[in-house]
Amino acid sequence: MEQTLVLIKPDAVGAHHIGDITKAYEEAGLQIRAMKMMQMTDRIARIHYAEHLEKPFYGELSAFMTSAPLVAMVLAGENAIARVRELHGATNPANAADGTIRKRFAKNGSENAVHASDSPESAAREVHIFFSETEIF
Ligand code: TYD
Ligand code: MG
Repeated sequence: MEQTLVLIKPDAVGAHHIGDITKAYEEAGLQIRAMKMMQMTDRIARIHYAEHLEKPFYGELSAFMTSAPLVAMVLAGENAIARVRELHGATNPANAADGTIRKRFAKNGSENAVHASDSPESAAREVHIFFSETEIF
């Protein structure tokens, strides 16, 4: 079974969508293996979004992600990485398919409700930024 790291971002937490988003994962047959609420620090943002550090949008991304609490989760299932990316839809909700989490809940292409790992390598790396082995069930 594959594992992937999901973040319910501060916009979706603030808009009271934790329940709806979690329900979408469970209805899709994904298992919640770990879950916690936390506030991202600048340090964690730089580690988690290392691939985006030099991008023009990094400052805005980091400010948003550290602005208020988020919910971090480890989801597991067959093909979980690709399936969660599909459930989430395109990065910008304007381009996301109907019924996807970003279409339903994202505010715009920056405050876009959810994060998910994009490959087995990023999943292995990202899961352990947020969770220790003893926190994953
Ligand atoms: P990215 O990894 O490209 O998207 P995804 O979250 O779908 O894997 O970008 C990471 C986050 O950075 C994205 O969710 C929102 C933010 N972002 C911007 O604010 N502006 C942009 O132009 C891009 C590409 C991303
Ligand atoms: Mg990404």
